[in-house]
Amino acid sequence: MPAAAVIGLACIDTQGVPMPATFDSPLSAAPDPVDADDEGGGASIDDQRQQLLSVIHAMVGQPVPPPQTARLDEAAFLAQMLSMVRQVQPLALHSQKLEAIGQLAAGIAHEINTPIQFISDNVAFLKQAFMLLDPRADGSSTVNERQLRYAREQIPLAFEQTIEGLQRVILIVSAMKRLSHASNGQRDSVDMIDIINTTSVVSRNEWKYVADMQIDVTPQMPPVPCIRDDIYSVLLNIIINAAHAIASQVEAGRYEKGLIQIRARALADCVRITIVDNGCGIADTARGRVFEPFYSTKAVGKGTGQGLAIAHSIVVQKHRGRLWFDSAPGEGTSFHIELPLQATSE
Ligand SMILES: Nc1ncnc2c1ncn2[C@@H]1O[C@H](COP(=O)(O)OP(=O)(O)O)[C@@H](O)[C@H]1O
Ligand SMILES: [Mg+2]
Repeated sequence: MPAAAVIGLACIDTQGVPMPATFDSPLSAAPDPVDADDEGGGASIDDQRQQLLSVIHAMVGQPVPPPQTARLDEAAFLAQMLSMVRQVQPLALHSQKLEAIGQLAAGIAHEINTPIQFISDNVAFLKQAFMLLDPRADGSSTVNERQLRYAREQIPLAFEQTIEGLQRVILIVSAMKRLSHASNGQRDSVDMIDIINTTSVVSRNEWKYVADMQIDVTPQMPPVPCIRDDIYSVLLNIIINAAHAIASQVEAGRYEKGLIQIRARALADCVRITIVDNGCGIADTARGRVFEPFYSTKAVGKGTGQGLAIAHSIVVQKHRGRLWFDSAPGEGTSFHIELPLQATSE
């Protein structure tokens, strides 16, 4: 059965001439007289159409309006499907991004919890200190010289740490806000320094136990025309891969802590971001496969093999940029991303 029939769009003979966008019956009309029994285990065309729309609905997390047509030729059908997929694509990418945030959520909660904990400890100390310094009703003091000296030393420190902790929380929350703000597939003039800082903050819990991170960015970076959400995904995927590659070295006892370096440079016609790790490196046998969808050398639950495939399609297909790596097994890997400064469409 042609796919057009499944979704309720019968193919009619127009000798390949695309049909105008006027339609002769709504989708809810009776199914076209095509054979409903040749695929789909005997389900009716209506059922199969409904199932297909539900699958898309489940994928994007929002209902998809059914095409308002029942009779179209193949070319018009393809055009309509393409426009439908284009409509839902930003939603799909947004869902994917939310999923990525969901995966990072536990780590981010932990990142926020740590400063909140010491803010709370410091505020409790400040309360005690002030109670101690409070003179009695008769004007005498409850505090001796030694306690007074201690309080004088410690109170400013406690305030400083509280402010630092609050600033850390503000930084994490604002990074989260930037990351979860959907750019809906729109190109923007994007500040790469901001993108790099945001991704390093939200991914911190993924790498901080195994690696340090150094960020080295030329202060004067031109804005890059790109889809902000997409570039967040690319960087997050590559940073998390770097953390995994380093973690495997730490687990093998090669060193206690590795290093992830993120560099960004403006070149004549593009911006280049390089992410360097001193992790396990990519084996020669895997070199040609890492950008393949679903290729992963990681344990189930740790990798799905989609990160680099998605990164490749975002950088190369969508942004007409370049993405490549060099790697020495046992020594480390560098991923390079180049994004053109002149926007070119897909
Ligand atoms: N920085 C890196 N160091 C070593 N191997 C890497 C690195 N980045 C990617 N790889 C390899 O490429 C594979 C595919 O990566 P990816 O598409 O992100 O999928 P996943 O991380 O889910 O396995 C990984 O399983 C790993 O073998
Ligand atoms: Mg990955």
